[in-house]
Amino acid sequence: MIDSEVSGNEFVPDDSDNPFVAFRRMLAWDVLAASSGMSDDERRSFIEGTDALVAAVAGTGFRFTPVARESRLSDELGFSASGGVWVKDETPNVAGSHKARHLFTELLHLLLAESRGLAPWDASSRPELAIASCGNAAIAASTLAAAVRWPIRVFVPQSADGVVVDTLNLLGAVIERCPRRDGDPAGDPCVLRFRERVAAGAVPFGVQGTENAWCLDGGRVIGWELVHQLGTDALAKMIVQVGGGAFAAGIGEALVLSGSRTALVAVQAQGCAPLERAWRMAAKTGGTANAGPRWAQCMWPWESEPVSLADGILDDETYDWVAVCDAMTKSAGFPVVSPESDVVAAYAMAHRTTSIDVSPTGSAGLAGLITLCASERVNPSERVGVVFSGVRRGLDLPTPR
Ligand SMILES: Cc1ncc(COP(=O)(O)O)c(C=O)c1O
Repeated sequence: MIDSEVSGNEFVPDDSDNPFVAFRRMLAWDVLAASSGMSDDERRSFIEGTDALVAAVAGTGFRFTPVARESRLSDELGFSASGGVWVKDETPNVAGSHKARHLFTELLHLLLAESRGLAPWDASSRPELAIASCGNAAIAASTLAAAVRWPIRVFVPQSADGVVVDTLNLLGAVIERCPRRDGDPAGDPCVLRFRERVAAGAVPFGVQGTENAWCLDGGRVIGWELVHQLGTDALAKMIVQVGGGAFAAGIGEALVLSGSRTALVAVQAQGCAPLERAWRMAAKTGGTANAGPRWAQCMWPWESEPVSLADGILDDETYDWVAVCDAMTKSAGFPVVSPESDVVAAYAMAHRTTSIDVSPTGSAGLAGLITLCASERVNPSERVGVVFSGVRRGLDLPTPR
């Protein structure tokens, strides 16, 4: 466990069990708040005050989430005593997944802009928040919005129902169903309708850096937390499931900024793997780093209907692919595409070998590890990390195998 330097520079984590307080000096939000004239104490209080509002609705504020070597999981995958699988458990985080971390820096930004007179509205004339999601992100966004009584509209697929929709209703979100319309261009109709609403004045409150870059700020906190808890080079590989890409981008950037040599491995399911395709295309067209200017050559929506049990990572485009490819390049990482059988096996294995009540999306990073083990791309003495994020909601437990 490291005790002070996280970035190899002057940064010293604050003495707090709230990661947004502990790592605040690494946040872009903190720089903005300081430039608006707030003192360090005021910035700290601002985060703590907002966190208390979140805790009143969510039942918990932001606190370090546990990470531990899971011995039964490590044994089952054939790791030796010196190696193994470290699982970061994000299921106790606000709203049951890491998504609220991304959204918290968006919320801090909005509240700061409003309170410092930097926004074109005040507390009585707030524009609606908007998000396209029907999963963990929608629940996290609606939880934070409810905490500060800010109206939110959630764009969901036509067929959405069940516990997520019930939860959104309880949190007071306006739900807008999005069937594909004649003449819609390629891509997710929820994202299309969301973008129309944003063009009409709503504030993007989602978890894609392309729509609101403030989500990438808070997404890094989980990576700094990992480094703080385990040490800079504790893990050889950090294996992260990828949908829109902000999650892996945040962890990867935090590791790189911390001076860690842990390799970022980005996992997608075979039924939707636009990131791995982009990685190959980028390698062919000038390299996997700084590929943003080659967007059209590398990233386009997945053509066939995305399918997987891990339905939270079926974004037909990896919106934050440039940042993920940069972090993989800098960390000597790579993408892995898992066959659906490994996605299913990972969900069952997670429940068989750990006590974490994780969803199939949340255990999809483990699917990547299973795929790597099967092709002997992981050494039994390696220490590898995965994040179980996303509590199981209204799903059957996996069938024992
Ligand atoms: C539990 C869980 N893990 C990972 C992801 C992927 O995150 P991202 O879309 O930022 O790649 C999601 C997205 O919904 C998720 O819900």
